[in-house]
Amino acid sequence: MPAIAVLGAQWGDEGKGKVVHLLSRDADYCVRFNGGTNAGHRVVTSRIPVGANGDHEPTQEFKFHLIPSGALHEGCTGVLGHGMVIDPYALVHELNALRELRGREPEIFVSSNAHVLLPYHPIVERLEGSQTALDTTAKGIGPAYRDKTARIGLRMADLLFPERFLEKLALVLERYRTVWPDHAEMSRLRAEALAEEVLTLAENFRDRIVDTVHLLHDALAHNKYIIFEGAQAALLDLDLGTYPYVTSSTATIGGIGSGAGVPPQQVNRVIGVAKAYTTRVGSGPFPTEVPDRLGERLRAQGHEFGTTTGRPRRCGWLDLVALRYAVMVNGFTEMALTKLDVLTGFSEIPVAVDYRYRGRTLREFSAICEILQECQPIYERLPGWQEPLSDCRDFFELPTAAQKYIRFIEDAVGIPISIISVGPGDEQNLWR
Ligand code: IMP
Repeated sequence: MPAIAVLGAQWGDEGKGKVVHLLSRDADYCVRFNGGTNAGHRVVTSRIPVGANGDHEPTQEFKFHLIPSGALHEGCTGVLGHGMVIDPYALVHELNALRELRGREPEIFVSSNAHVLLPYHPIVERLEGSQTALDTTAKGIGPAYRDKTARIGLRMADLLFPERFLEKLALVLERYRTVWPDHAEMSRLRAEALAEEVLTLAENFRDRIVDTVHLLHDALAHNKYIIFEGAQAALLDLDLGTYPYVTSSTATIGGIGSGAGVPPQQVNRVIGVAKAYTTRVGSGPFPTEVPDRLGERLRAQGHEFGTTTGRPRRCGWLDLVALRYAVMVNGFTEMALTKLDVLTGFSEIPVAVDYRYRGRTLREFSAICEILQECQPIYERLPGWQEPLSDCRDFFELPTAAQKYIRFIEDAVGIPISIISVGPGDEQNLWR
């Protein structure tokens, strides 16, 4: 049975949720291993089975922030791994929404070692100004991971020991109050009241808090089918991305080892998900950004507004320099290319094949922002197509120019594109 990783190959929002949802129809487990509510995985489905006769719901949209997208399928258990930082308020909200949608109890497990993101984390993020400086999602992700590395974080396991939870919470709050003694919002947070609120919320999922490392290894030993759902993406990875304009977790293949406890050699397929063009939310260098009318057209045609924050996404052409880097650091075995339909109607489609940096040609991506922001893309201009693609279901139904576009990318990155998405619906795909 396969273990498949689905990872973002650009700056996030590539459509990982849709790919995971498609691949996890027959999966036993779908596992998140990094991030928290900063992720927003939007799944549009016409195939949620309802009732014993196998009827399907009409098209429905579901936005996942914490629960793995595969958990929409009956029989697929969602696992929230220990590399995540989990907001218990958001978790309960999502569990309730999923319960309402599916008419039954969601099947999930939460790692006892996952960190709990608490209401002071977004406050700290705001007070420190990183929300403004880095244009983060403002969910408190950075401060939650910082508490983890500073070894003062609270973990899911702490919710199993209420007295210890209160003690630890009181210590952390005391620390923060010392840093911001005059801040009203911070001063209002009382350890007893907050502990009681969070412990009450935890009643909704306390029996789901387990050692997910052993759970997953046991599943692998029993030949279960597992999907690892990456959040964020290679260029937002804390170590490999465009630091400091990155998130605070490991969004690349290594995150599965550190954030789920499963060594990468257990993963037989590593699928990189990329859009047919590029988007980025938040600050940071973006060499192929098209800030003019063409960029606006991409944003309008692709509905490029954030799932989590609603922010307009910055849009630009496909960047093969960045994509080659993502393939290299993740060891992708194949790619899924999404939103190809959005490129319909452009007379030509520029694709960055190299960069020009201080008069030199750069073939290799640099994650050093000072270098990257001076890089000018060297474009190859490929012919566009005018036909809508949303009804294509086979590669050979695509216009010749679109087929050439796909083959050009495959040649440039050296791996096959096995899934092509031509619309948000779960039928709008070409499998190769
Ligand atoms: P944080 O993860 O909220 O700390 O935000 C850090 C950077 O990562 C910001 O530029 C965010 O816009 C970006 N980011 C975080 N999560 C996502 C995501 O799921 N999709 C796209 N960008 C993201």
